[in-house]
Formats: sequence, C-alpha cells, structure tokens
Amino acid sequence: MKHIPIVRTGYFLGCVLLVTICYSWIMVNNIFIRSVVQLQKSQNGSQGQQNSFLIKDRVAEELYGYAQNERVSNRMKLVLLWSSLFNGLEFLKTGQNSFNHSSCSEKKCEITSDRRRLMESDAVLFHLRTVSMTDIPRSRASHQKWIFFSLEAPPYSHFHGFSFMNDMFNWTMTYRSDSDIVLPYGRVIRNDESANRLDNLYSLWQQKRKMATWMVSHCDTDSAREGYIKAMEKFMEVVTFGECGVAVCPVNKTEECLNNFSKKFFFYLAFENAICDDYVTEKFFRTLKYDMILVVFGGGKYSKISPPGSYIDAMEFSSPKELSIYLYKVAANFTLYAQYFKWKLDGYDIRDVPDPCMLCEKLHSNSFRLYSVYHDIRKWWVAGSHCRKWEMT
Ligand SMILES: *[C@@H]1O[C@H](CO)[C@@H](O)[C@H](O)[C@H]1NC(C)=O
Ligand SMILES: *[C@@H]1O[C@H](CO)[C@@H](O)[C@H](O)[C@H]1NC(C)=O
Ligand SMILES: *[C@@H]1O[C@H](CO)[C@@H](O)[C@H](O)[C@H]1NC(C)=O
Ligand SMILES: *[C@@H]1O[C@H](CO)[C@@H](O)[C@H](O)[C@H]1NC(C)=O
Ligand SMILES: *[C@@H]1O[C@H](CO)[C@@H](O)[C@H](O)[C@H]1NC(C)=O
Ligand SMILES: *[C@@H]1O[C@H](CO)[C@@H](O)[C@H](O)[C@H]1NC(C)=O
Repeated sequence: MKHIPIVRTGYFLGCVLLVTICYSWIMVNNIFIRSVVQLQKSQNGSQGQQNSFLIKDRVAEELYGYAQNERVSNRMKLVLLWSSLFNGLEFLKTGQNSFNHSSCSEKKCEITSDRRRLMESDAVLFHLRTVSMTDIPRSRASHQKWIFFSLEAPPYSHFHGFSFMNDMFNWTMTYRSDSDIVLPYGRVIRNDESANRLDNLYSLWQQKRKMATWMVSHCDTDSAREGYIKAMEKFMEVVTFGECGVAVCPVNKTEECLNNFSKKFFFYLAFENAICDDYVTEKFFRTLKYDMILVVFGGGKYSKISPPGSYIDAMEFSSPKELSIYLYKVAANFTLYAQYFKWKLDGYDIRDVPDPCMLCEKLHSNSFRLYSVYHDIRKWWVAGSHCRKWEMT
C-alpha cells in the first residue's frame, strides 16, 4: 500500500517532464520555422537563385491556387538533362531552341544540363542508355517530374539496375504510344499544299533493275530480321548496304544514298532490329520520302502512323517465300506498283526527327500538377513492350 503514492508521484513527474519537453520542442521548431519563413521573405525570388524552400512554396502556390493561374502557366519551365545524350538525340538542344519553332504550340520551356539547377527544375530527364544508379540526384523537389527516357527498344536498352528504379519516375518519355510523353521517331502529317506529282513514276519504274535493298549496321539482331532476309534471298536478290553488306554509305550521305537507291531498286526493306510495340525508327519515316516501296518488319501500328497504301507489311505474309512472290508480282505490274505511290498525290509532310513539343506541352498542362509514379518501371518497359522474335515456321 505504501508504494502506491510513490509510484503515482513518479508518474506525475514523468508526465510534467514529458509535457515540458514537448512544449520546448514545439517552441524551438516554431522559432526555426519562423526564421526560415523570414529568410525566404528577405530573399528576392529571382529564378536563378531559388533554394529548395522557395521551390516548395511555389509548389504550394501551384497546388492550392494561391497564385494566379495565368502567371503559373506562363512561367518558363525548366528541364534538366541529368544523364548525357548521345549521337542522334540532337533534337534536344540545351537552351530554348528545341521548342521555339512553329510546330510547338507551347514554347516556354528551357533545357539545361547544368546540375546546379536541379532544385529549380520542373522535370529531370534520365536517359536510360547513359544513366548510372551511382549517379542519381540526392535531393528532389516534390513538384518535380522525374522522367524515364528511352528511344531504344528494350532489347537494346541494356540496363541492370531496374529494381533500384522502383518508385523513382513520375513520367515516361519513349516512342511507345502509352508513354506520358510520346516521342515517335517521325511523323507523317497530312498537308494539302505539299502534294507531289508523280509524272516520272513510269519512267523511274522502267529504269529500275533490282528488287530490294536495305542499309544495316547491326548484323545480328533481337528481331532475327537477318534470318528473314536470308530466307528471302533464296527467292530474290537483296542488296545489303552497311556494316554487314557490300558497301557502307557514309554517315552524312544517307539521303544521297537513298536517292541513288530509288533509281535502281523497287523496294526498300525497313526492317527493325527489335519487334516491340510501336517501335518504328527513322529508317521508316526517312525512306518514305523516296520513290521506293517500303517493306516493313516490326511491331509498329503502321496503319495508324502512315497513309494507306504506303508500305507492304512482311508480317502479313505467311513466309519470306510468300512475301517474295508478292514483291515480284508488284515489281512486274506497273498498275499494281503505282498503287503504292497514290498516297503521295494527297500531300503529306514527312518528319523523320523526333519532335519534343509534347514535353513542353505536358509541363504546362494540368497533369503536371497531378501526382503520378511508376511503381515498377521494368514491368512497364520490358513486359509492356511485348517484344518478340521472328521465327521460321
Ligand atoms: C533585392 O532586389 C533589390 C531590387 O532589385 C535589390 O536592391 C536588393 O539588393 C536585393 N536584395 C538581395 C538580398 O538580393
Ligand atoms: C525564338 O525564335 C524567334 C523567331 O525565330 C527569335 O526571334 C527568338 O529570339 C527565339 N527565342 C529564343 C529564346 O531563342
Ligand atoms: C561528312 O563527313 C565527313 C567525314 O566524317 C566530313 O569530313 C564532312 O565534313 C562531312 N560533311 C558534312 C556536309 O557534314
Ligand atoms: C550517287 O550516285 C551518283 C551517280 O551515280 C554517284 O556519283 C554518287 O557517288 C552516288 N552517291 C553515293 C553516296 O553513293
Ligand atoms: C496488274 O495489276 C492490276 C491491279 O491489281 C490488275 O488489275 C491487273 O490485272 C494486273 N495485270 C497483270 C498483267 O497481271
Ligand atoms: C514523383 O515521384 C516521387 C517518388 O515516388 C514522389 O515522391 C513525388 O510525389 C512524385 N511527384 C509528382 C509531382 O508526381
């Protein structure tokens, strides 16, 4: 019985101590928070000198509408290229020029590779080909969109650190049509003003002597296109240019080579190195400009990205032999041959360089303010691409 008051006193003292500690802690924090707010107020909010606290303030403004919407949507958006690009990605230039052209409806975006601007960036771009898991930013502003960026198909985007990337990215930017920012290698756009004339199609057809050609640098591919072409060669002549072929076209003379090919060959084989959903590279878009019939082999939805009658799809034939028989038939019959050029009379603009406009539009859109995250990026990228191989049946 005697012990009880002592125990009660102990509880009482304990509680007083706890309350005192809690109170002090709250006060100290209050002072700290106030001084931070004061610090923020004393600073001039010029774009280049923002710190992370100010950034958070701005996010709150955007999220809860403290600021006027017009001002928010008019602000220049900054994109930081975290990992370097490589040849072929010249369409993403640092500065404002990538978006400052007529085709971009939203031009207020700037690209930088200056890592010191990390915290003020609205988006951080991670190029899968060059990203390293030992070199990832250590801090991240909550409003920032981290973007998974790849133009290579999964079999050629060798990367072993995918599991470290769970919950890392907010957006994806790839050629795939289900990406947040869709970045196809090219586009065919209807344009009545650029209608072609096909006056010389007949004389061009008469002058052609060879069946098909293609230019290729990867000789052994995931799609197994080389096996398909080998099988075709039993029935028709295919002249291979590039690293695995009879001659190499100089890198900066591609257009000249294609122009020369169009005088000799009926067909150009635009065979992709991987058969994955939506994976259609510049070799398709670029060659559409020339007067050869394109034969495609890949995972693209060609009928959606290209005018009707602008290509022959190898996948629609039961075998390389069946395809070869059909190609002979087309090459031998001008009426049939000419049907594959009819679309050119309608007028189209053919773009064979990726167009980053959507990146800027997205940064200014409402979805920029919405939370989003890719929990399992490997699943989205690898499983979601449905890559497959061609196999002789
Ligand atoms: C804030 O801006 C004003 C006017 O532009 C300038 O005179 C002042 O020195 C700036 N203060 C700081 C702390 O940069
Ligand atoms: C954008 O393009 C216009 C017209 O070509 C030019 O006058 C302007 O200086 C450009 N702006 C930037 C930031 O490069
Ligand atoms: C094409 O490439 C060659 C060799 O790489 C170079 O000497 C030449 O200047 C290039 N020409 C053009 C027009 O870029
Ligand atoms: C294209 O053809 C012309 C005429 O036959 C030739 O002089 C030229 O070297 C060819 N160009 C290439 C890149 O092979
Ligand atoms: C050539 O093709 C056209 C269109 O498919 C067809 O109507 C015609 O019969 C063909 N001519 C020959 C000689 O096969
Ligand atoms: C982006 O993803 C990160 C990490 O999952 C998350 O903390 C952040 O809230 C997301 N931001 C936006 C703007 O979606």
